[in-house]
Amino acid sequence: MSAPNKSYDPVEVEALKPEEIERMRDEALAAIAAAAGLEELREVKVAHTGDRSPLALANREIGALPPQAKAEAGKRVGQARGAVNKALAGRQAELEAERDARVLVEEAVDVTLPYDRVPAGARHPLTTLSDRIEDVFVAMGYEVAEGPEIEAEWFNFDALNFPPDHPAREMQDTFFVKPLSGGSETDAAESGVVLRTHTSPVQIRSMIDREPPVYVICPGRVYRTDELDATHTPVFAQVELLAIDEGLTMADLKGTLDHMVRALFGGDLTTRLRPAYFPFTEPSAEMDMQCFACRGESAVNPDRPCRTCSSEGWIELGGCGMVNPRVLTACGVDPGRYSGFAFGFGIERMLMFRHSIEDMRDIIEGDVRFTLPFGMEI
Ligand code: DAH
Repeated sequence: MSAPNKSYDPVEVEALKPEEIERMRDEALAAIAAAAGLEELREVKVAHTGDRSPLALANREIGALPPQAKAEAGKRVGQARGAVNKALAGRQAELEAERDARVLVEEAVDVTLPYDRVPAGARHPLTTLSDRIEDVFVAMGYEVAEGPEIEAEWFNFDALNFPPDHPAREMQDTFFVKPLSGGSETDAAESGVVLRTHTSPVQIRSMIDREPPVYVICPGRVYRTDELDATHTPVFAQVELLAIDEGLTMADLKGTLDHMVRALFGGDLTTRLRPAYFPFTEPSAEMDMQCFACRGESAVNPDRPCRTCSSEGWIELGGCGMVNPRVLTACGVDPGRYSGFAFGFGIERMLMFRHSIEDMRDIIEGDVRFTLPFGMEI
């Protein structure tokens, strides 16, 4: 810095010459205009307005001028610095606006784009249907009961009044896990072990575990030595129902069946019973439901054939009957005081006719393309 000019000599300070100031200002303005980004502008700002910038240094030289020149130089430098600051602020605003616009474009999220989500699965329709059936009965006060899939032969057969030589026990139907020990056939502990062939043993377990009245619904998997084909599978699902109380009759059974088919298929469908034989029920019946598609019309009107029931008007559901007093006795229930009804049916079959599924293998193969169209039901 030059020494203060106290002698009022006309001192020429190079840095304060108007053209010098102009040059410094123009250089600064050019650099500001050329700054392509905010970071670069920050550097330009330091270089042209900082303590060591040419204009700041020139400003310090003002003191070296004679008094009359000071004001003029001060004004000139001040104007130059003002212009530079204004240009800086302007460029700063410009660059910030550019950055904001760019961020908006670059960081925009298109919420309509497909993304890598994990595909939602679906409940298997067999589970959904089984739950629906349970719900119908739970709403009437029934309890859901379960039993083991590996079952004592005594529960699977003996207690259900299957005689020892009943054909259902034979190898072509039953998967034997542990063959009969040769002990007493009336004792569960001495019994052989099988994969349960039906859910009826859960009836026995429910009666033994509870004091009457007993109202249970028992869904579960069962096993039979069938080859897998369009209508058979060695593993399938059944639902069993058991009601034990004082004064129950076949009218209660019929009313319960009617209510079930209406709850599951809608409308005012009915059921019908056909005489049949099961060792654990007496009397026993096969139960049919009125076809939910043609409501029985196809059977009487040849012009309206029905694929769902093959124009029978009825669809076979499963077996039912009044619990055989011998079964009640085997479970410690007094048949003199209590009576009961039971029914059981396969869920795959119901799923098949309910949804026109032609091949049972589609149900059990677990292909999600089969399951997904059924959607979710909670
Ligand atoms: N357990 C029989 C079966 O698997 C079905 C059945 C028939 C169950 C009559 C019942 C019934 O409860 O009363 O073939």
